[in-house]
Amino acid sequence: MASGTYELDRRWGATSTWTREQAARIRRTAETTAPIVYPPDEPTDSDLYLWDTWPLLERDGSFAEVDGWRVVFALTAPAEMLPGKRHDVATVRYFYSRDGREWTTGGPVFDPERSLGSRQWAGSAMYDRADDELYLYYTAAGRADAVELSYEQRIAVATGGDLATDDDGVRLSGPWDHEVLLTADGEWYETREQAARESDLIYTFRDPWFFEDPGTGETCLLFEANTPVPECGCGGDDGRRAFNGCVGVAVSDAGDPTEWEMRRPILDGACVNQELERPHVVVRDGRYYLFTSSHEHTFAPGLERFDGLYGFVADALRGEYDPLNGSGLVVANPHNAPFQAYSWLAYGHRDELLVTSFFNYYDLGGLHLDEVGHLLPDEQREKFGGTLAPTLRLELAGDRTRIRGELDHGHLPLEDEELPPADPLAGRRPLGGEGEY
Ligand code: FRU
Repeated sequence: MASGTYELDRRWGATSTWTREQAARIRRTAETTAPIVYPPDEPTDSDLYLWDTWPLLERDGSFAEVDGWRVVFALTAPAEMLPGKRHDVATVRYFYSRDGREWTTGGPVFDPERSLGSRQWAGSAMYDRADDELYLYYTAAGRADAVELSYEQRIAVATGGDLATDDDGVRLSGPWDHEVLLTADGEWYETREQAARESDLIYTFRDPWFFEDPGTGETCLLFEANTPVPECGCGGDDGRRAFNGCVGVAVSDAGDPTEWEMRRPILDGACVNQELERPHVVVRDGRYYLFTSSHEHTFAPGLERFDGLYGFVADALRGEYDPLNGSGLVVANPHNAPFQAYSWLAYGHRDELLVTSFFNYYDLGGLHLDEVGHLLPDEQREKFGGTLAPTLRLELAGDRTRIRGELDHGHLPLEDEELPPADPLAGRRPLGGEGEY
């Protein structure tokens, strides 16, 4: 029985809480600390920064393999720019591979004249094989016609495009029809205006994740949001801050991937964390594993905090969720490379989970992320990976997890691929000095 407050309402859903008490148990351990990431021999694309990535999935959540090709989408920006500015110009590109190891850049997915927002942030992609339709969900950040960059976020979809393959690769082509699916309602999900406090924390209503519940058949869209909360004091002395991240959900009763009705959040992290990013669910043995990435700087004061992957488990999509490993921490960057990876995505593979992410800032020599912007432009570029990180292998046992090894950068094996035996000691001993993770 989870300790969070939990109200079950048949129509509107239930909200589990990630409590401060649970989050206060966050510690790096051998089981949860990722090995150091080193630069790959070759980045995925040397002309591009690439960060948040998501694969093309079938409606049932398995990888879509189209005529032997796998497709992933990623947020990208030109590699000559300052890495810290990349979010302002994020462009969705696609990449394809036959073997799940070597990825070829396919190009930008959308026509910038037609896509919504001044830039597009993370999403998910579903190929409905029965209807031969692609649904590309994304976050419309800001407004295309605005003079000033804004952090307004709306959840959108693009449909009507085409995916063609031949021996040389994959071609995704439009025209795409773009449509806003969800905007924050102000009751369950904070609007940009409600959040208009002065703060260095970024408002969230983004990162749609298509998920069809194998247990109930319900068609869902998960997303990252903020719960409207009165000033609560969890920002410490800084009363302007509210750490009010949540995982939202919308439902399509008819199963139509473009028609959604909002439900109340499935997980509330109020007074724990401001950003529960890129939420997604993996079902294993009838249990629902909800994962989300978060940053060290978005945790409320007073908690141990790491850039990491956090996870929760429940018997049903709507909960009630218990934090994995007692605290929620599943993967943390190690103490000597605290910003090396981000934006983790877990998926089931045989009897384990695989976790992808992107190679973020490394070799910082003790600098905090806030200080990177003060470095010379070339140094900032040198310290930013901007490419796919090694894939982590995770053992899952009920509500416990353990990192049991890793695969190469960007290696995304599909169901039939047998992996080498995992190192039996991985995730069982400190990576650094005695007791140092
Ligand atoms: C996580 C994230 C996403 C967002 C994107 C913007 O890395 O913050 O939540 O969609 O980056 O670049």
